[in-house]
Amino acid sequence: MVKTTISVIKADIGGLAGHHVVHPRLKEVSVAELTAAKKDGLIEDFYVTAVGDDLQLIMTHRKGVDNPEIHELAWNVFSKGTEVAKQLGLYGAGQDLLKDAFSGNLKGMGPGVAEMEFEERPSDPVIVFMADKTEPGAFNLPIFRTFADPFNTAGLVIDPRLHEGFIFEIMDVFEDKVVEMSSPEEMYDILALIGTTGRYVIRRVFRKSDREIAAVVSTTRLSLIAGKYVGKDDPVAIVRAQSGFPALGEVLEPYTLPHLVAGWMRGSHNGPLMPVGEKDARPTRFDGPPRVIALGFQIKNSKLIGPSDLFSDVAFDEARRLANVIADYMRRHGPFMPHRLGPEEMEYTTLPKVLEKIKERLKEA
Ligand code: F6R
Ligand code: MG
Ligand code: MG
Repeated sequence: MVKTTISVIKADIGGLAGHHVVHPRLKEVSVAELTAAKKDGLIEDFYVTAVGDDLQLIMTHRKGVDNPEIHELAWNVFSKGTEVAKQLGLYGAGQDLLKDAFSGNLKGMGPGVAEMEFEERPSDPVIVFMADKTEPGAFNLPIFRTFADPFNTAGLVIDPRLHEGFIFEIMDVFEDKVVEMSSPEEMYDILALIGTTGRYVIRRVFRKSDREIAAVVSTTRLSLIAGKYVGKDDPVAIVRAQSGFPALGEVLEPYTLPHLVAGWMRGSHNGPLMPVGEKDARPTRFDGPPRVIALGFQIKNSKLIGPSDLFSDVAFDEARRLANVIADYMRRHGPFMPHRLGPEEMEYTTLPKVLEKIKERLKEA
């Protein structure tokens, strides 16, 4: 049985009107490149979209995860796009391409990557989440709720195929280490880690009964890779749904709470994660608020059937309204924590300069 791989690879290679949206020309260039790659048989199918200033390549193929040819294809698409971005004078052209030349794998090179390989079920629904103005840990809360919270996911209680629970692979993005933890037995320990969203990030989820892959999140931290701020590490995630996995509605339900995430304005503020349709993934207010879109596909013979733009549903209107109320409330804190992040987490900071300036005047209290 052939296995299908779905690779979601994204980069901010330039914004229209600042860190706002992707210019349509960049999507056109990507579609042209990926059409050629499909014709050549390198990939089976693709869908190109954008959330805020991040260009998103959703691809299916039969080459497995971490495949150098697929990574190189994405790198080349982003490089071609960067040339166009430069011609158009787009803002931050090529900002997420941190290296001059491709060297085998995108890890550490700037673009964000989420990939999973699986044997297709007769009908295989997959949801691709893409977020802007936030970080990979933003998915900790909703992914935990989908795969471990019985108040969210009815199937954990009443569907025998989900009842054993799920295994969470959690990454310490500072130390570059991973640990597998089992839910429900280790639920409190899992939460003790993943509540620290800037450091411990859910990277993959497996069904416990057969270790089938259920979810994967991109865990690239641009700021840490480059050793300095070069752009937000806006994350993507892939989640499988139905018949033995959480239902589509159980995967989407956590986003009815626009929970607070880091990454708003200058990567240095907390704000609500607003679920929106593709057409509304256009952050403006204080460069935000942070957005997430969700596209639903069926995977058939390695082809992408769809998508359906899931958060465009009116059922998420209240979440958006609440996100706007929370955005107002948070904004009124101005430069104060917890709207502004703590000093160790900010991506821009004048604090060392201020401390230097007052150093002589600092006296014993
Ligand atoms: C970028 C982001 C934005 C920028 C801000 C300042 O993803 O989050 O809020 O940080 O617009 O950008 P610069 O420093 O490029 O003027
Ligand atoms: Mg940007
Ligand atoms: Mg972005």
